[in-house]
Amino acid sequence: MNDKNRELIEEKIQEMFRLKQKALEGGGKDRIEVQHKKGKLTARERIELLLDPGSFYEIDMLVHHHSRDFGLDKQVYFGDGVVTGYGTIDGRKVFVFSQDFTVLGGSLAAEHGRKICKIMDMAMKVGCPVIGLNDSGGARVQEGVISLGAYADIFLRNTLASGVIPQISVIMGPCAGGAVYSPAITDFIIMVEKTSYMFVTGPKVVKTVLHEEYTSEELGGANVHATKSGVAHFTAKNDLEALQIVRKLMSYIPLNNSEDPPCVPNDDPIDREDEELNYIVPANPNQPYDMKEIIRRIADNGEFLEVHKDWAPNIIVGFIRLGGYSVGVIANQPAVLAGVLDINSSRKGARFVRFCDAFNIPLLIFEDVPGFMPGADQEWGGIITNGAKLLYAFCEATVPRITVITRKAYGGAYDVMNSKHIRGDLNFAWPTAELAVMGPKGAVEIIFKKEIENAPDPVKKEEELIELFNKKFANPYIAASYGYIDDVIEPKKTRHILINAFRLLESKVDSNPPKKHGNIPL
Ligand code: HXC
Repeated sequence: MNDKNRELIEEKIQEMFRLKQKALEGGGKDRIEVQHKKGKLTARERIELLLDPGSFYEIDMLVHHHSRDFGLDKQVYFGDGVVTGYGTIDGRKVFVFSQDFTVLGGSLAAEHGRKICKIMDMAMKVGCPVIGLNDSGGARVQEGVISLGAYADIFLRNTLASGVIPQISVIMGPCAGGAVYSPAITDFIIMVEKTSYMFVTGPKVVKTVLHEEYTSEELGGANVHATKSGVAHFTAKNDLEALQIVRKLMSYIPLNNSEDPPCVPNDDPIDREDEELNYIVPANPNQPYDMKEIIRRIADNGEFLEVHKDWAPNIIVGFIRLGGYSVGVIANQPAVLAGVLDINSSRKGARFVRFCDAFNIPLLIFEDVPGFMPGADQEWGGIITNGAKLLYAFCEATVPRITVITRKAYGGAYDVMNSKHIRGDLNFAWPTAELAVMGPKGAVEIIFKKEIENAPDPVKKEEELIELFNKKFANPYIAASYGYIDDVIEPKKTRHILINAFRLLESKVDSNPPKKHGNIPL
């Protein structure tokens, strides 16, 4: 090649670098400084921290909007306010989009939306997760209905991808109006404390319409969604912590619904016994204890990634590993409201069961449940429909499912919490288990009402009858005699028994009748 030719080609290459450099500058130094002052990282800094070093490959870097109205002709930025591409987390492929608040406030319009749709379509074909880092002023006002259409294009893809590839949303700035519905359809939402908020209508509208005053934080901050609404599955102190949560979460889940979850090397002996487990359940059935301690003592190296930690804490859900394999745990928490099932705990449990079932993650249920929560609030709030969600979710799950009853398994809740009757594969009970229609006191008051009333000393009579009832029913042996549980086990051996049982069930095949889809009581 002669020098002239070489020079021309060199110029073209430099032109490419110049354009790409422009894209890398986002909304410019000043806006990046403002972003940093708010305690937020930029879109690209976030991607760097999320993915394995050097693994990110950006696509559509040179896309820009083609609008000319309302001054947009003077505000054309490469990238159009979102950075998209693919990379790896622990060597496993993922697609990412990261909204760039420094460009037109990360607002979403035609090209911005098209970029997100493009990676979602590719992720569906390739079979790997989409992680969305959200930081956006919402629909780009200047592009009007085109922006709304772009959102709808994303909502459709979120829905079609649901249950096929994992979708994780990290909220790292504003997420308001209809924009909230894309994260809402995804599998997990992680919110950054103090810098992120989500609401359908903001404080100004709430004030105008309802005459109520809230700050953005009070109305839709991370804390509110982690404790009151259950919208957020995790919260993080800052951007870095949020991205670390995503990496951790990814380590438990498969890349798509036709893969098994990853298995990691395990140095915790599979036959490790834990003497403390024998004595962890108090003799007094009304005394609480912490089910999380049982979960940690049984899990590999005591590690438990809890989901929805601060919402509906009377049920516990999250991921552990047993012998290196991922397991989804659903457990009643006797330390909160005695572990009763209410509206929110049923919803929380149901959603987690369905996620695990969709993505081939076996389920482990620890049960100590006094029943469903009584009361007008619960009835009027729809405990019937909501409780049925958990029942339905267990009934339709085809992944390996193992139950360990540690203490109470009363009433309808006995059926719901992965009983054998609804396809629990292996159901174990500790010697402290009590499987009954209700607790001894309630039962005795119903079935021996007249005897108690007519007794010379009703209090003593009731005590005697409770003791009799306890002896007869408050144990696991009647259920064992019918095969409703498969074995009564010594608590200290639970880890080894579970690991062997899950290994047995690895090759389990089960299915549901063919149908378009069921009609879960939503
Ligand atoms: C166009 C926007 C924008 C938007 C922000 N910007 N939001 N541009 N469309 N929706 C621009 C600003 O003009 C500004 O540009 C830059 O982004 C940064 O915004 P600031 O206001 O300076 O930032 P801040 O003070 O941090 O406030 C952030 C904010 C505020 C609270 C998000 O910008 C805001 O209220 N924006 C409008 C939010 C909104 O109403 N969106 C529509 C929601 S309805 P310059 O050039 O000055 O840097 C919706 C419907 C979706 O999204 C429906 C789907 C079905």
